[in-house]
Amino acid sequence: MTEISPQTGHAIKQRDHQAKVLWNKKISSSCFQLGLSCFKPGFQAVSGQFVMVRLENRNWPLLSRPFSICNLIYTDGMATGLELLCKVVGNGTAALSQVKKGTHLTVLGPLGNGFDVTGNDRSICLVAGGIGVAPLVLLGQTLIDKGIAPENITVFMGGYSQTDLLCQDDFQSMGIQLILTTDDGSSGAKGLVTVPLKTRIQTQPPDMIYACGPSGMLKAVAELSRHYQVRCQLSIETVMACGVGACLGCAVEIRQPSAKYLHTCIDGPVFNADEIRF
Ligand SMILES: Cc1cc2nc3c(=O)[nH]c(=O)nc-3n(C[C@H](O)[C@H](O)[C@H](O)COP(=O)(O)OP(=O)(O)OC[C@H]3O[C@@H](n4cnc5c(N)ncnc54)[C@H](O)[C@@H]3O)c2cc1C
Ligand code: FES
Repeated sequence: MTEISPQTGHAIKQRDHQAKVLWNKKISSSCFQLGLSCFKPGFQAVSGQFVMVRLENRNWPLLSRPFSICNLIYTDGMATGLELLCKVVGNGTAALSQVKKGTHLTVLGPLGNGFDVTGNDRSICLVAGGIGVAPLVLLGQTLIDKGIAPENITVFMGGYSQTDLLCQDDFQSMGIQLILTTDDGSSGAKGLVTVPLKTRIQTQPPDMIYACGPSGMLKAVAELSRHYQVRCQLSIETVMACGVGACLGCAVEIRQPSAKYLHTCIDGPVFNADEIRF
């Protein structure tokens, strides 16, 4: 069934699923990983897409919350569910962190455009800031599935402290190299993740950069990519209310033409770095 948003005129495709929590693992003091079995076997999702998640039978938090698809769960070679990586920042994520195995959640998606992966790039950098690593795990696997050798992919992962550097095992098991930085120096080089990224671009320019993280980091990555003329895609995490183009809550300003806005939920969340005005 398709509805049309009265505000934007966009088609709103209804893709609500009842999801069963397969596991809820605490992976750091503020982060947890949810395994959800929710879709018809064989459903399609691409890296960079997200889902809107809501607790069932609760009036509060009223709105769904967006989360990137971190991994797909396969049964007999067919995708049957997905894995989310979540950080507690407010009431919605705090409530979600408490859900037990077997609980049902309402999940809308997969939504958004996802990363554009051609398979033609020979050298690729992924840049993850904190919880922004979530969509890059599935992206790493997608790149390898497209025939890119793991040794030609490097993940630059930054966080405030050691405990913010998540999913290292996922990338290591794919054979992807990791460059770590922390603000407090507790793991990897002390400082911003864009410092080793800049050195890498200057010494061995990659064909493509993909990034997800806080907006300050994305702005710095976008500036580097423009300055050194490296193609770059950014996954933007704005606040979202509906996820389907109906509420106008996720506007992002684009550089050309001036004063024009796009919706992160339906035009993104992945944008070319050149497009966005930070
Ligand atoms: C496309 C997309 C993908 C996302 N993927 C993930 C993911 O994989 N894992 C994950 O943990 N989070 C992800 N987020 C962010 C996540 O949706 C928010 O952290 C969550 O909605 C906060 O809900 P809350 O009720 O806990 O906090 P709220 O009570 O709604 O807010 C608490 C505080 O967090 C701020 N906040 C809320 N949303 C965001 C946001 N998007 N960015 C920055 N600050 C925010 C609020 O302004 C407020 O200060 C994603 C967001 C988007 C748009
Ligand atoms: S229009 Fe509602 S979240 Fe994008």
